[in-house]
Amino acid sequence: MSDQTATTRAEMPKAANPILERRTVENGNRNLLKHLKPGLSVLDVGCGSGAITRGIAELVGAEGRVLGIDPSGNLIAQARQHSEALPQLDFQQADIYGFETTEQFDIVTCARVLQWLAKPEEALARMAKLVKPGGFLAVLDYNHEKVEWTPEPPEAMKKFYGAFLKWREEAGFDNAIADHLKDQFLKLGFEKITVEPQFEISVKSEPTFATASRIWSEVAELRGPQLVKDGYVSEEDRLAAIEAYDQWIATTGESMRLYLLAVEAKK
Ligand SMILES: C[S@@+](CC[C@H](N)C(=O)[O-])C[C@H]1O[C@@H](n2cnc3c(N)ncnc32)[C@H](O)[C@@H]1O
Repeated sequence: MSDQTATTRAEMPKAANPILERRTVENGNRNLLKHLKPGLSVLDVGCGSGAITRGIAELVGAEGRVLGIDPSGNLIAQARQHSEALPQLDFQQADIYGFETTEQFDIVTCARVLQWLAKPEEALARMAKLVKPGGFLAVLDYNHEKVEWTPEPPEAMKKFYGAFLKWREEAGFDNAIADHLKDQFLKLGFEKITVEPQFEISVKSEPTFATASRIWSEVAELRGPQLVKDGYVSEEDRLAAIEAYDQWIATTGESMRLYLLAVEAKK
């Protein structure tokens, strides 16, 4: 499929902003915490609405420098609105494939973005160039083929999820990108590469279970209409998936685990 198909399918639906806003650096990119110190400079690629980026800016403090880039004008506008109290934090509307700067950063991070790119290796190579010698490239992403539900989710949601993975794959996105990052770092010449599981597990006994596990109903609500338009699922099946999965959450659902790996290396 064309680059345009990938770009169109990667666009965040506007209504997805609340999902991004639930994230913090502590719950959404915690492998960075060990590095973040006052005075550091950080580039956050595909920063979305800047929820994680704001946390990064607080940790590097007023003497640090943080730049978040994202191609979505809507998300960058939202990110700017929430960052006025942090002069060390800037946002720029930019796509990693076209982002030009002479600046290099102590840390370049990129969370949950390469999963939406048809050319993740090109994007990673560009990010690597933006890291200062001695700095870190820190990437976090999913393997969507390894999501786990206990017990199995309803057939209607399994059908929708299968269509979602196919829709992504046919746009050129790598559903298993997390498990391919280490090789991609090696190809770029990085040597000591650290790979840490950063699974997101929600269990029924926790008050966040309904919100966190509902991410798949949200995907069906927000991305689902694109899948219907592109002919991957019928509207009837999309609505049935939401209804059955919400019922699973309210009754038999015990846990849901998203598989993410944090992969990082020093330049
Ligand atoms: C799932 S969101 C992740 C946002 C945030 N990093 C987080 O972890 O919550 C993916 C983001 O990647 C952005 N994105 C898509 N294509 C991109 C590209 N070519 N360059 C940079 N960002 C891109 C989207 O606009 C979206 O904000």
